[in-house]
Amino acid sequence: MKKIAIMTAGGDCTGLNAAIKSVVLTAIENNVEVLGIIDGYKGFVEGLYRPLNAEDVADIEELGGTVLGSSNKECPFYYLVDKQNMKYEDKTDEGIKKLKEQGVEGLIVIGGDGTLDSARVIHERGLPTVGIPKTIDNDMMASMPTIGFDTAVETVTQAISRVRTTAYSHRRVITVEIMGRTSGFLTLYSGVASSADVILLPEKDYDLDKVCERIEKVTKYKRYAIVAISEAAKEIGKKESISKVLNDSFDKVRYGGAAEKLAKQIEEKTGIECRHVVLGHVQRGGRPSSSDILLGLQLGNYAFELLYSGDAGYIVGMNSDKLVKMEFPHERVPRVLDLKTNPLVRTARAMGICFGD
Ligand code: F6P
Repeated sequence: MKKIAIMTAGGDCTGLNAAIKSVVLTAIENNVEVLGIIDGYKGFVEGLYRPLNAEDVADIEELGGTVLGSSNKECPFYYLVDKQNMKYEDKTDEGIKKLKEQGVEGLIVIGGDGTLDSARVIHERGLPTVGIPKTIDNDMMASMPTIGFDTAVETVTQAISRVRTTAYSHRRVITVEIMGRTSGFLTLYSGVASSADVILLPEKDYDLDKVCERIEKVTKYKRYAIVAISEAAKEIGKKESISKVLNDSFDKVRYGGAAEKLAKQIEEKTGIECRHVVLGHVQRGGRPSSSDILLGLQLGNYAFELLYSGDAGYIVGMNSDKLVKMEFPHERVPRVLDLKTNPLVRTARAMGICFGD
């Protein structure tokens, strides 16, 4: 193997650049050239590349985001070719052909579940491919945690700490909306780490009366209350709050509005003054934590080793401090947060944190 390509796709997060760096440096040690694909599957289909040498990856592990660019809209086998008429085509073979014309013999794709499902198709269509899981949502089976999760937990935890002091000063309730799509890992971990009084997750619809009961109780002795709410959490019998439906995106729904709605409801029911905070894309940026850098470096290196040794067709991961690999699944199987067995939920409940049930 003389040349491989690497791509980042899906929503960005921290730790991606560490994985890129590790792939490039390990490849150079093995006399393999690396071609970077720009902007995810858009670059794959349209043939947007840049060579990656040692000088291109020097110190990039300290940067958030991805030096290759990313997009969370395109899918190569359902690629939007005519936006006006919403016409889609399968462009996978075209993308593979373009890479092969460059002499590329293997591909490493860093992405979330949608991205890695497309990577599976590329592998099956004849370009040996290895996937590296990343997402602040932490909802992928392949790795616990995924690249980007640790930094995001720290970012959200620190943000809630800052919100807490102003909530205390003004005797307010502040609801904080946290990303994660339909997975509650980020809200749970940062909510417990920042001592939120109420944690509302997409895995469990909440009872507004129970939420208000807890708030009334804690505000009596500590003046304020913090509610950490996942963007896709919803009240029993109600629907999720959706901020946007993007017709040109493979995953069309974007969540948003849950914290604002809940703040109004709590204020109405309890009479306590409320505010809401939407942390938004702040959660995806910043300097990567050391853990995310180390995870990115190790998964990048392992992915290269598999590809180089002819053992492609896998997603690599880290589980209980061991490098692991799993075959590309044929359907999206998310890692599910089980509230009944999760030890952090157990600890939180034992301390009186309310999950809205
Ligand atoms: O999947 C990662 C993620 O950050 C989710 O937590 C969030 O719902 C979504 O991406 C936001 O997507 P966009 O960047 O398109 O707004």
